[in-house]
Amino acid sequence: MADPGRIQALKSQEPALKPFRSSPVAALSGRLRPPGDKSVSHRALMLGAVAVGETTVRGLLEGEDVLHTAAALRLLGAEIARTDDGVWHVHGVGVGGFTEPADILDMGNSGTSARLLTGLLATSPFTTFMTGDASLRRRPMNRVIEPLSKVGAQFLTRAGGRLPMAVTGAELPIPIRYVTPVPSAQVKSAVLLAALNTPGDTTVIEREATRDHSEIMLQHFGATVRTEQTSEGLAITITGQPLLKACNIVVPSDPSSAAFAVVAACIVPGAKLTIENVGLNPLRAGLFATLQEMGASIERRNERLVGGETVADLIVQGGELKGINVPAERAPSMIDEYPILAVAAACARGTTTMNGLAELRVKESDRLAAIVNGLQANGIKFDITGDSLAVHGVGGKVPGGGLVATHLDHRIAMAFLVLGMNSRDGVAVDDVAMIDTSFPGFVALMNSLGADIAPLEK
Ligand code: S3P
Repeated sequence: MADPGRIQALKSQEPALKPFRSSPVAALSGRLRPPGDKSVSHRALMLGAVAVGETTVRGLLEGEDVLHTAAALRLLGAEIARTDDGVWHVHGVGVGGFTEPADILDMGNSGTSARLLTGLLATSPFTTFMTGDASLRRRPMNRVIEPLSKVGAQFLTRAGGRLPMAVTGAELPIPIRYVTPVPSAQVKSAVLLAALNTPGDTTVIEREATRDHSEIMLQHFGATVRTEQTSEGLAITITGQPLLKACNIVVPSDPSSAAFAVVAACIVPGAKLTIENVGLNPLRAGLFATLQEMGASIERRNERLVGGETVADLIVQGGELKGINVPAERAPSMIDEYPILAVAAACARGTTTMNGLAELRVKESDRLAAIVNGLQANGIKFDITGDSLAVHGVGGKVPGGGLVATHLDHRIAMAFLVLGMNSRDGVAVDDVAMIDTSFPGFVALMNSLGADIAPLEK
């Protein structure tokens, strides 16, 4: 049967929005296992696709972003299938084994898919066309185009280095030494992935360390990766044209998704949640350290190593939070967590100042703008100075009552739904459909723990 929402969207050329409201909750309790880590899931599929043999992936995030990566890799020649037990099987084509795709690769909402795959395509000697949704088509690709052009790839883009674009991979790739101008794991990873089909050693240097899932997983697949502290920063060197051997990967729960449940438990008085299997790679765990400095009760249990990644269960209890200063150096380790930190800050007593937020302007939305518009709509005061944001917390329940514009940004939607849980009048968001990019089932899961999130009555 025809979906009336879709017909409306086709008529108006605007996607149909699904507004939802999160009402105040009295209690929140129980256990949950958030879905698989998005960063690790993308990398597992991509490395599996260029390895030799069958890679299995357990706990893969079955969110839209990762499904877009899988679809693109299939178009490039990898065989990827899911069995009924939830295990994903990737039959790789070997390094340099991709073939020209017969259609445009659609990366949906996913910057990680677009940028990391561009790295692999930069040393695949044919032309590929790539596009994405309205959010991704606004995001900068020049940050990967610049280093990958030095490797020998050629690009044609819309104005400002935006998608759609065409990439023609280098026939004779050149190993480079590249200092990343912005702290970005996506840029670092794109260069490392291009290096796989490049002879010799490629080095990426980062002034501030960013998430190292690519480095960890490349070694797991048998690549030689060396890291060394230099006067310019952390230098990561990979030796090209390795034989990547298929392996079995277990994906931990995504700390960036766990973050929404963690903050919900922190701000709802009397709440207690056990959040299982959370990936706690030190380069991803900045939010949890920050919340603890704010006075949150977060306990780690059952800490272990899974495929080189630190994993633990978190027990979080509600209580009073206080405002703090969050240093700029911490930003790379919690870059996706500022929307939900702003929510914690709104409920804390006193001011929380977050520094070094320039990169938030180029995420799924201009997140700095989206955060402050959402705070303003819900009666919370703030100041922005340069790339710092100061949120003046109310020390308890926020007023609420606002409707937040999400701009196709899953983390803005989830963050403000969490704010509604500790508000006087509830908080509405204009759309929830894009939450499926990273956290399918978020609304139902939070409701099963005591939240009250429901379609907004018009
Ligand atoms: C990611 C890196 C981060 C992050 C994104 C996922 C990754 O982006 O915001 O959600 O998987 O490498 P940048 O590296 O551009 O900061």
